[in-house]
Amino acid sequence: MSTHDFFDKRGEQSEIKARIVAKYFKVWAEIVIPSVKKRDKRIAYIDLYAGPGRYDDGSKSTPLKILETAIESNDIRNMLVSLFNDKDDRHVNSLENAIKSLPGIETLEYEPKLYNVEVGEEIVKMFEEMRFVPTFFFIDPWGYKGLYLSLIKSALKDWGCDCVFFFNYNRINSGLNNSKAYIQR
Ligand SMILES: C[S@@+](CC[C@H](N)C(=O)[O-])C[C@H]1O[C@@H](n2cnc3c(N)ncnc32)[C@H](O)[C@@H]1O
Repeated sequence: MSTHDFFDKRGEQSEIKARIVAKYFKVWAEIVIPSVKKRDKRIAYIDLYAGPGRYDDGSKSTPLKILETAIESNDIRNMLVSLFNDKDDRHVNSLENAIKSLPGIETLEYEPKLYNVEVGEEIVKMFEEMRFVPTFFFIDPWGYKGLYLSLIKSALKDWGCDCVFFFNYNRINSGLNNSKAYIQR
């Protein structure tokens, strides 16, 4: 499947991926929230490669599943700061519309924020210097480009932070045989 038709129709793998991430996020939130209540009362979700929100067949992708999970829980709804980023402005616009039309979205204490930035070394440097409230990071690039080890390290450095990342190891296998490909630090 090429990157162009990735969002045409949600495949079984994408459905499973969205379910794994939303379930994991809920369990993570339930574990950190009792301690967060005694601290600064916010948790965060940062999705660096968020995609358009819905597949062309209308089915929901991970960002919408996460926000639905938040809307359904009193605690998460009141504490969650959510940030969604994609380098493709069409995906950001589509995601913004999909989020706006999600039932119950107005019940979230903090409105989801959308960004249109290309993830690269600058983001890593920024993360290295930031101190995060307990944050769940979702890193889901196409292939492995952008999946820096330093990015994961910077995401996991503060208390209560966790990260789920997906990458396509078939692309690594083909990259290993390509002298022009490289895996970044
Ligand atoms: C696999 S898709 C994400 C799917 C999404 N996580 C979901 O569950 O529906 C990868 C996304 O990353 C975006 N992307 C690729 N490289 C990027 C980069 N360097 N910085 C930011 N976004 C990027 C693409 O535009 C695409 O929407």
